Amino acid sequence: MKIIAINASPRGMQGNTGRLLDEVLAGVVASGGQTEVLLLKSLEVRPCVACDLCHKTGICNIPDDYEGIKEQLLAADGFILASPNYIYSVTAQLKALLDRLNGVIHCQSMEGKYAALVETSGGGEDQEVLDYMARSVNLLGATAVGGVGSPVAGFRAFPDEEALYARARNLGAELCACIREKRRFPEQEAFHAAFRARMTGLVDFMQEQWVFEREWWAKKRAQ
Ligand SMILES: Cc1cc2nc3c(=O)[nH]c(=O)nc-3n(C[C@H](O)[C@H](O)[C@H](O)COP(=O)(O)O)c2cc1C
Repeated sequence: MKIIAINASPRGMQGNTGRLLDEVLAGVVASGGQTEVLLLKSLEVRPCVACDLCHKTGICNIPDDYEGIKEQLLAADGFILASPNYIYSVTAQLKALLDRLNGVIHCQSMEGKYAALVETSGGGEDQEVLDYMARSVNLLGATAVGGVGSPVAGFRAFPDEEALYARARNLGAELCACIREKRRFPEQEAFHAAFRARMTGLVDFMQEQWVFEREWWAKKRAQ
């Protein structure tokens, strides 16, 4: 079982988010999963330029690391999004990646994959950022199994760190369990059904231009 973790902190694994992510990864490994961390700070993912080429060809033409990251995510059984709270949202690094995944969203290509979420903040609003990341996971077609978030409490410490780390390790184990069991989440399934209808409607509307996505959905419907 392969799990890709995207760490969107500019501080990498040495930062608060990286330290909390490490505990989730320990939970994955203890459950028999294989992990790989992609540090967005060491990769180049430029902002989307809205050229629509991904909708027409299935490939983004911007010459950076995006296509490689996309392929790694598509080949994984599950993934983890990890970001600090930057102004009540994720970092610009993660937002750029999410924007670039717009074609994946239109095709709902992450259907059947499970994801976990990791967030840290200076002072709070952790759930708000975790909710944003969960929605992003659902937009990709994947299922969010849960998240762990915390404010920091001084230098290299979290409040009630032991309990937080236990929850983080449990989240990693849950991610693996959900993948093994193909666990059902009825509320998210309802969202996926409605959003899939919206995406197929959009692609039908744009079918003259968005050739790749038209053919993608034609193949999916024929299956
Ligand atoms: C540009 C920037 C924006 C931030 N915005 C917020 C914020 O809106 N709310 C908050 O509680 N913390 C905010 N923080 C603090 C970080 O979320 C917090 O220090 C986090 O744990 C950093 O994680 P890292 O060490 O993994 O990078 C911000 C930090 C930076 C650098």
